[in-house]
Amino acid sequence: MAYRVVFLGEGRVGKTSLIMKYVKNVFTEKQESTTEAQNFEQRVKVDDSFVPLDIWDTAGQERYHSLGPIYYREAKGAILVYDITDIDSFVKVKKWVKELHAMVGTNIAIAICGNKIDREREKVVDLSEAEAYAASVGATHFTTSAKTGKGVQEAFTYVAREIKKRDKTGRNFSAGSGTGLKVGTRDEPKPSGSGCPC
Ligand code: GTP
Ligand code: MG
Repeated sequence: MAYRVVFLGEGRVGKTSLIMKYVKNVFTEKQESTTEAQNFEQRVKVDDSFVPLDIWDTAGQERYHSLGPIYYREAKGAILVYDITDIDSFVKVKKWVKELHAMVGTNIAIAICGNKIDREREKVVDLSEAEAYAASVGATHFTTSAKTGKGVQEAFTYVAREIKKRDKTGRNFSAGSGTGLKVGTRDEPKPSGSGCPC
């Protein structure tokens, strides 16, 4: 069975766009708001194995907040997204971390994505503060752009790697082990060369 990974974050921060970039390598300026959660199955290459993920895109608008537990209850990983040009969306991430830790415990693998880094000139969130915050809650911070693709694969690979590491069931992830899933595959990112995690 694939591991559930849930995307959470305020409306319009770019959750759907990040998933579309990763799964289909597309970006649309006119991406519509999600009103009904949707899932995508994807196998993510980690070292010499493939980790099957069941990626859930949720609706970020406030009126859908109470639906959160339906999607994160069984989750082994979460990708929490905020918009670097919107401070409130970063505050919301902190609320999601508290809620996740209270409801599913601290063993969940969490990536925090500061999205829309292509609009860095409009940035209002202090990224070093965001990184320090992520580390303080056992998460890892990524700066991403669904528009350019920057950081996207890194965030997915991180979550897949963490889930694999935390899984104590001794599951075999080898490419030929046959999960029975009809899912796409993505390789892990090539080293960027700059060594810059941002
Ligand atoms: P909800 O479904 O309402 O929760 O929103 P969402 O978080 O799924 O955001 P969505 O992916 O729909 O993106 C909202 C808007 O931001 C769209 O117009 C996207 O084109 C735009 N957008 C998303 N990611 C980026 C990015 O990295 N850079 C830029 N410049 N725009 C982005
Ligand atoms: Mg959406």
